Amino acid sequence: IDPRLDLHDEISRLKRERNAVLLAHYYQDGDIQDLADFLGDSLQLAQQAKKTTADVILFAGVHFMAETAKILNPERIVVVPDLAAGCSLADGCPVDRFRAWRARYPGAVAISYINCSAEVKAESDYICTSSNAEKIVRAIPEGQEILFAPDKNLGRWLVERTGRPMRLWQGSCVVHETFSLRKIVALRERHPDAKLIAHPECEEPILRMSDYIGSTTALLKYTTADDARKYIVATESGIVHQMRKASPQKEFIEGPPEGNCACNECPFMRLNTLEKVYLALRDLAPRLEMAPELRERARVPIDRMLALS
Ligand code: 13P
Ligand code: SF4
Repeated sequence: IDPRLDLHDEISRLKRERNAVLLAHYYQDGDIQDLADFLGDSLQLAQQAKKTTADVILFAGVHFMAETAKILNPERIVVVPDLAAGCSLADGCPVDRFRAWRARYPGAVAISYINCSAEVKAESDYICTSSNAEKIVRAIPEGQEILFAPDKNLGRWLVERTGRPMRLWQGSCVVHETFSLRKIVALRERHPDAKLIAHPECEEPILRMSDYIGSTTALLKYTTADDARKYIVATESGIVHQMRKASPQKEFIEGPPEGNCACNECPFMRLNTLEKVYLALRDLAPRLEMAPELRERARVPIDRMLALS
């Protein structure tokens, strides 16, 4: 790329030329968020992907999100900045193992968190996201055996919230399991006026001490509506960009990881850069392609979720 190019201008120009819409998740770098036509949590991005009439969906997020966009709107060209942007939850739940797990509980209903591959979606009865998971679990008749995959932390939290027992797949998110309980406790002592807010992918001890738990959008909304002046944010640090923009007078402290690393940044989400967004629009590549048969099977549990959302 010519270093003299103004990537903001070029991306805006290419978006118009290609009739493209840029959908971005809150865990993207701030400069990508600032260029997005639509920012949202996983559910909102799926809903937006379904209803867009743009010719091209440029999905700045991770692979399972772009796959969901393709499943919901197969007529569109779906391009991503980097095809290698995966997810530890999706990677930790390969379809052959998931199928074998399901086969052990023949009468059970399987709810899968949207953070899984299209293959796993195709083998599931319902999909959920962090913002509608409670509603989906409650929609299953009482007494029905439920399997929940792949996030054990979200699953455990749902069992507690709904009182519905579920068998949990033992997966977790590399980012949300990195937050240090010890450092968060120390931060709370140093900032007694700060509220702790967390994503349900966090581990149990952190969720137990949180003042509020929710999806990325729910956390953002909470910080705008709530009257505290300071927050410790236990989720991927990208969301803090929007929190600061929405409430410039408030202080946001990024949830601290245990090591001396930037592990509160998702290594997959952050593979996407402004340069790669530009190239994806310029070349209309890499594209997200899927076999129609898989796409159609994976759509069934996603549509069930959307109907309940
Ligand atoms: P939400 O934006 O739906 O809360 O999901 C968070 C996440 O981990 C996405 O990978
Ligand atoms: Fe997956 Fe965690 Fe990254 Fe979200 S933050 S994409 S759950 S690895």
